[in-house]
This record gives sequence, C-alpha cells and structure tokens, in this order.
Amino acid sequence: MKKHVLIGVCGGIAAYKACDLVSQLSKKDYEIKVLMTKHAAEFVSPLTFESLSHNKCYDDLFNKNIEDPIEHITLAKWADIMVLVPATGNVIAKVVHGIADDFVTTTFLACHTKKMICPAMNVHMYENQVTQDNLSRAKKLGYTIVDAEVGHLACNDTGKGKLASVDTIVKAIDAQFEKEEILKGKNVLITAGPTQEALDPVRFISNHSSGKQGYAIAKAAREMGANVTIVAGPTNLNDLDGVNTIHIKSARDMFEAVKENLDDANYIIMAAAVADYRPEVVADQKIKKNDDCLEIKMVKNPDILKYAGEHKKDNQVICGFAMETENLEENAHKKLVSKNCDMLIANNLFTSGAGFKTDTNVVTLFKNEERIQLPKMSKEELGVKILETLFEIESER
Ligand code: C5P
Repeated sequence: MKKHVLIGVCGGIAAYKACDLVSQLSKKDYEIKVLMTKHAAEFVSPLTFESLSHNKCYDDLFNKNIEDPIEHITLAKWADIMVLVPATGNVIAKVVHGIADDFVTTTFLACHTKKMICPAMNVHMYENQVTQDNLSRAKKLGYTIVDAEVGHLACNDTGKGKLASVDTIVKAIDAQFEKEEILKGKNVLITAGPTQEALDPVRFISNHSSGKQGYAIAKAAREMGANVTIVAGPTNLNDLDGVNTIHIKSARDMFEAVKENLDDANYIIMAAAVADYRPEVVADQKIKKNDDCLEIKMVKNPDILKYAGEHKKDNQVICGFAMETENLEENAHKKLVSKNCDMLIANNLFTSGAGFKTDTNVVTLFKNEERIQLPKMSKEELGVKILETLFEIESER
C-alpha cells in the first residue's frame, strides 16, 4: 500500500527544490499531497506541485470554495508522514510552539503521525540560538530533523543553512518506513474495544472503551509489516485496510475468536476492555418493569488473556493492559505475573490525557522487574512503542 506523504512547503528560495523532491517521491511508492504557505506560493506556483504530485495543492486555509470545511484535519488523518521542506526559521518557530495560523502550520499541529523538518535558511538565521533552541525542541517533540548542509547560500553567505540534498531527504523519508518492517512475517493478534453482555434482546452491560488504542496498535503493526488480526468489540471505528477484523459482541465470542487465532500468533496484545462478568440468564423477551428492585445474577467470564498466558508457546510474546483507578503499580505487577505476560501496559483512568475516549495515552510499561514510565503520546505513537518493545523482548530471548 502506498504511503501518504504531506509536503509542507514554506517561503524560502529552496522551495524550488521541493518540486524535485515531489517529483522523485511520486516515482516511488508514495502518494504525495502538497501544502504551501502564502509566501511559498510567491516562489513556486501551486500548479507546479499539482502537476508533479497529480493531486490538488493546498495553500489557503480559509478558501470558501473547498468542499471539506475541515480539510486540514482530513489531510492530517490521511498522512503517514508530514515533511516541512524547506522549513524556514519562522515556520520552525511556529510549529514547535503550537502556532497554527495558516494551512501548513494548522495541518502540522493536527497531525498525529511522523513529522520531519528539513531546515533551510541564511547561516545567521540558522545559527541563531533561537533557531537552534527551536530545533532542539523539535527533536524533543519527536520530529525528525534532516539537517541543513554547509554551502554557498542564495544570500551569497557561505555556511550552514543550505537545504539537505533531495537525495538525502528521499532517503530519510524511506528510512522512516523501512525501519518499521521489523515485523514482516509475524502474526499479530490484538483484542480491542468493549464487550457487550446481553441482559435481554434490547439491553446489555458494557463499558466506555472506544477501541482506539487497540486499533492504533493494529495500524502500527500493519505498517511494521505484520499480518494483523484484530478481534474487536462494538466500536465506531472503521475497519483498517489490510487488517483481518473479526467483529464480536460478548466476552465469550471474543474468547472463541481469540482461541481460533491463538496458535498462529507471534505477538498477542490484549487491549480490549473485556467484561469480567455477564448476566447468568439472558431473557428471551424484554424484561418488564414490574418490581421496585431488579436483581441480576452475574457469572464470571473467561479471562482471555489468562488463557493465552497459560497456553503460551515459546515463539509467542504476550502483552496485557491494566486500567486502574487505584494502586496502579501493585496491581499491574500482579497481573503481569498472574497472567504470564511478557509485558503489561498500565494506565490510570484518572490521569489527564489517558484512558478510554482520548487520542492520547499516558502509560507505564512493566516488563519483568523493569518499569518504564512513558510521556503522554498519541495512541498511534504508543502503538509503535509497544510493538518495538515486544520486538526487543523477543530478540533478547
Ligand atoms: O484483570 P483485568 O481485567 O484488569 O486485566 C486486564 C487485561 O486482561 C487486559 O489486557 C484485558 O484485555 C484482559 N482481559 C481478558 N479477558 C477478561 C478480562 C480481561 O483478556 N475476561
């Protein structure tokens, strides 16, 4: 599947080199869409990029004639990577501080995917401590910098500030996707979302799980080259292209689907919020409103993760989740051991930016005696981190 690349062109003389970049990338396995700042459009015409990318070029956030009023969000979701090239000192300063005042910077802020910055500017602007601090900040935020080179600059100065060669930028973009193929040939089995435990034909007991974290792991695993199966409870999420999705409702349905796929799985990641109990009896007809009090007897559901742990094979790595509201550390460690997991991902429901419906998560990874506290990150970034860590665990065996 073609990777989606958003190129954000900023207003510097090196903008003309972005034309060559788009041309080179479109000859490879990439689909390109170009966004331009107003100043970039003074250097190169949007039509040039439209012709080279075979896609519309976006240069005006407030264009009233566009069909999609939130196009910057749509584009941000479409992208597998966003690359600023050339990135001017001004735009770098804006994006590392969350300023979003045109199409390029707004889309950059909305992007929850890989981000790359290819600086190009006058040597004094480049060497200015402010720019250097901004570039350090960009690195800390996880953006890849394809650093400027030393050379003769358009302003007749000689020094660092020249845009990296198109060849270097293409290689840097390729590398972003190449290193992800570490799971090629592996089968990854994921559970996601809530389960629904029926009470009668119209009612069920469930929870607030959105399935976002499980789906984000599935997407990351697919991009790392794995064959992915996701067993998903009811969510509002669309099926992912290239991912085998098995839709289930109850914990017992999930258990059956997991058992069917367990033997072939190399990585087993149980991100679903499975109901621990279900009503013992499911009424054939809608339960009527009669007495003041209704008692429902609940019986225990199978613990799917525990089953996977008990039947773990030598070539399998198992990862569970623990969402807690108290004693996070103690409970997470207990679960890691009792369910025979290789890794357990713990989050506290009450931490801001963590939990069910958000696009971000704040978690601690528990593996053996090691405990890794991760900063707040998007669920997609966490998906990559989880898979990379499982890959390390497997490689260390
Ligand atoms: O024991 P607890 O429910 O807190 O454990 C959470 C972990 O166990 C999660 O990874 C969840 O997907 C999994 N689980 C399961 N089957 C259950 C209950 C939880 O697979 N019945």
